[in-house]
Amino acid sequence: MIIAIDGPAASGKSTTAQLVAERLGYAYLDTGAMYRALTLKALRQGVNGEDEERLCQLASSLQLSFSLKDSRLKVIMDDEEVSQKIRSSQVSRMVSLVSRHPKVRRIMVDRQRRFGEKGRVVVEGRDIGTVVFPQADLKVYLDATPEERAKRRMEELRMGGGNSSLEEQLAAIVDRDRLDSQREDSPLRKAEDAVLIDTTHLSIEEEGKAVLDLIKRRG
Ligand code: CDP
Repeated sequence: MIIAIDGPAASGKSTTAQLVAERLGYAYLDTGAMYRALTLKALRQGVNGEDEERLCQLASSLQLSFSLKDSRLKVIMDDEEVSQKIRSSQVSRMVSLVSRHPKVRRIMVDRQRRFGEKGRVVVEGRDIGTVVFPQADLKVYLDATPEERAKRRMEELRMGGGNSSLEEQLAAIVDRDRLDSQREDSPLRKAEDAVLIDTTHLSIEEEGKAVLDLIKRRG
């Protein structure tokens, strides 16, 4: 069984996907974390977001491993823990530029498919139900108003010790949504057969339960 969860920035994908994976004992893949890690590497090496060839070289040589610990995703890139660093606003600002290149996506999507081949996996991202696993057994598209998503992201950043205003977060989220949904290759959109869940007024528990109920019904 493959469960695909897509949706825009801060729509609750990660929390929901992790919760569902834990409850079912499934593997969990955060494809956004993959694009973020690649972006961090590009920033560190001074690679321009326009330089598709260099980005491809980085994507091919990137060593990544993920594990879930106490409901938190631990990301190891080239032997270094980067779980927090990939969430910085600098990375968030550049990631949509890096992820829009078709050749870069091909490398990442290959890796994602290899990960999912074994089945029993929850995969989250932007193009999972449309491109990466169009044959997924269950497709969910999570959405919420931009204001609610900005509020959630701001709280997340504050809990991590960062500081940011609601206006700043709203502008960053709207900008990333625009880039992600207007790119030519694999834009963010709901697959026709995905179930839409509006999470604006849902708690994390309610969101998780909604997806688990869907899985039970498909059972
Ligand atoms: O967690 P958040 O909603 O902020 O975003 P993310 O899932 O970490 O994804 C970060 C960025 O990676 C997105 O804004 C996209 O540009 C890119 N991405 C993508 O292009 N395709 C995916 N399957 C997942 C992420």
